[in-house]
Amino acid sequence: MTMINDHFATIVSQEGESSAALLEDIASQVAACRRCPLCEGRTNVVPGFGNPEARVMLIGEAPGKNEDLQGKPFVGAAGKYLTELLGYAGLTREDVFIANVLKCRPPSNRNPQPSEIEICTPFLRDQVRAIGPEYLVTMGNFATKFILKTEQGITGLHGKPRTAGRFIVYPVFHPAAAIYDRTKRDALEADFAALGERLKQPRA
Ligand code: URA
Repeated sequence: MTMINDHFATIVSQEGESSAALLEDIASQVAACRRCPLCEGRTNVVPGFGNPEARVMLIGEAPGKNEDLQGKPFVGAAGKYLTELLGYAGLTREDVFIANVLKCRPPSNRNPQPSEIEICTPFLRDQVRAIGPEYLVTMGNFATKFILKTEQGITGLHGKPRTAGRFIVYPVFHPAAAIYDRTKRDALEADFAALGERLKQPRA
């Protein structure tokens, strides 16, 4: 897919530039970013990783320790579980693109702060535009609240797809929150299985 688009906030997109090239440009900007204090504590930025042509883009909260060390999203325990969850939807990591609201690790994995979200999310918006996925799967409260512009919590929103512009937003529990909580685990696995059913329909 090629996209010609003048909405980019963090990069200048060239006419006909591919999704992969746009994502590389955004990743370079992320790597150079010093717009908030999180840059001081990072080992690596974690711009996101996956298929530039993905039909499904997953959005988490922020890198943790393993992600900071490796520069890739969801490579720790939550990531291992996420790979399993993708299987419930008939997907592999190669099929999807995974990103986070924040691109740098908050100290001691504390919650993202409103100022950090405001400063960092132009990168996420540009990634969404570059990929143009059909589904945005928001994992947990931070991604869901940011994408849906809602104050409603994930417990009431998960598994209920909503249209937002040209995307279908599909909120789910955060995998890390579900690892040790049987009830959330069941809900999360059912939500990924239901996503798999939806994906059997050809892209609209
Ligand atoms: N949790 C997240 O929200 N993102 C990651 O990349 C890893 C854990």
